[in-house]
Amino acid sequence: MTVPGCGLDLAEPAFVANPYPALAELRARAPVQWHEASRRWLTFSHGAADEVLRHRRLGRLWADRTPLDRFEPFNVLHRHQMMENEPPEHGRLRRLVAAAFSRGHVERLRPRVAALADGLLGRVDPAGFDLVVDYAEPLPVAVIAELLGVPEVDRPLLRPWSQAIVAMYEASPSEPTTVQAIAASRDFATYVRGLVLERRAVPGPDLISDLVAAQDGPARLSEDEVVASAILLLNAGHEASVNAFGNGAVAVLGQPALAASMAARPDLVPGAIEELLRFDAPLQLFERTAMADVVIGDVTVRAGERAVALLGAANRDPTVFERPDQLVLDRDPNPHLGFGVGLHFCLGAPLARMELAIAWQVLLDRFPRLALTAEPVRRPGFVLRGYASVPVASVRPERAPG
Ligand code: HEM
Repeated sequence: MTVPGCGLDLAEPAFVANPYPALAELRARAPVQWHEASRRWLTFSHGAADEVLRHRRLGRLWADRTPLDRFEPFNVLHRHQMMENEPPEHGRLRRLVAAAFSRGHVERLRPRVAALADGLLGRVDPAGFDLVVDYAEPLPVAVIAELLGVPEVDRPLLRPWSQAIVAMYEASPSEPTTVQAIAASRDFATYVRGLVLERRAVPGPDLISDLVAAQDGPARLSEDEVVASAILLLNAGHEASVNAFGNGAVAVLGQPALAASMAARPDLVPGAIEELLRFDAPLQLFERTAMADVVIGDVTVRAGERAVALLGAANRDPTVFERPDQLVLDRDPNPHLGFGVGLHFCLGAPLARMELAIAWQVLLDRFPRLALTAEPVRRPGFVLRGYASVPVASVRPERAPG
C-alpha cells in the first residue's frame, strides 16, 4: 500500500493566517497522512483525531529535549506534570487538583469572575480599546492566579513566562525562542518555589497550599511535582482561554448580525461558546506516541512513532458537522474536539466555559454594539492559535454599568 504523505508547512504565514482550506483539501485526500517534515502521522478527520486521543496504546510520553544539561529547567517542568504522563502517574497528579476544577466548585466562582470582568471593562475607553490586551488576557490570568494564590503584584509576570514556554510547542522553535523558554522555565520555577515555601509556612485557601499539603499525603508529591503542577495550571489556565475569546470575538464581530443576536439573546451564549471553539480552536495540535503498533483509519502507526490529532481539522469535518465553515451559534449537537477527549480531556473545561460565558455576557451587556476598528493582529504560531490584538470600539449607545 502507498503511504499517503503530505508536505504541509505548519509555519507558513498564509497557512497560519487561515489553515482551514488547506486542511480541508488534505482531509479530502486521506484522513491520516505521513508528514515527513515533522516525521509524524497527522490526522485530518474527526474520527481519526478522536481515535488518536482516546487510544490507550497511544500515550503522552514525555521525551526530554536535549542536550539534557541545557534543557533541564524546561524538561523538569514537563516531565513531572499530569499532561505529559500516562497512568498511574497521570491519575495521581490529576486527582489531586480535579476537585478544584469540578463544575460545582467552579460555579461558586461565578460572582468573582463577573466582578473581575466588570472591573476590567470599567477601565476601558469605549471609543477605542483592545479586546485582547485589555480584557481577554487579564481576565483568565487574574482568575487562575487567584485560584493558585499568586499575589496581585506578581501577576504581570505570568503571561510573559507562559508565552515564552509555550512558544516551544510550535514546529521548529528558533534559537532565541529556545533561549527565552529555558530562561522563563528557570525563573518561573524559582518564583513558584518561593510561593511553595511561603505556603508551607503559612497555608492559605489556595491550590498551591493544597498541593503543598498533598506532599505528605498518600499521593506523595515531590517538590518538583508541586512546582510543575502549579506551573501547568497557571499556563494551561489562561493561554487557551485568552485565545478562545480572541478567536471567537473576531469571528463574531466579523458578522454583525451574529453579534447582535448574541447581545439580544443571552441564552445563546453557552452554545455559541462551543461553536466558537469548534470554528477556530485555540489549540490546534496534540500528539501521542505509539506504545505498540496501532491502526488509525487505514494506516498502521508503528510502536515508537508519533501521531498528531489536528483539532481544528477535526472540528471542520463535513461528515460530522453540517456546513462546517459556517458559524451556527445554536449548533446542536456539537461534538467538537476543542477540549480534547479521553484520559487527558481538559481538566479546566468547566472553568473555561464559565469564564468565557461570563466574559461574553458582561461584554455584551455593557457594549451591545461593538465593532472592529482595525484589522486584528494574529500571533504567528499555528499550534497555539490566537490574536495579539483585537481593536474595537463601542458603537453608541452603550448601556450604563450596573
Ligand atoms: C478555552 C480554553 C481551553 C481549551 C480550548 C483547552 C483545551 C485543552 C485540551 C485540548 C486539552 C487536552 C490535551 C491532550 O489531549 O493532550 C487540555 C488539557 C488540559 N487543560 Fe485545558 N483548555 C482550556 C482551558 C483550560 C483551563 C482554564 C485550565 C485550568 C487549569 C486547563 C487545564 C488543563 C489541564 C491541566 C490539562 C491536562 C489534563 C490531563 O492531562 O489530564 N485548561 N486542555
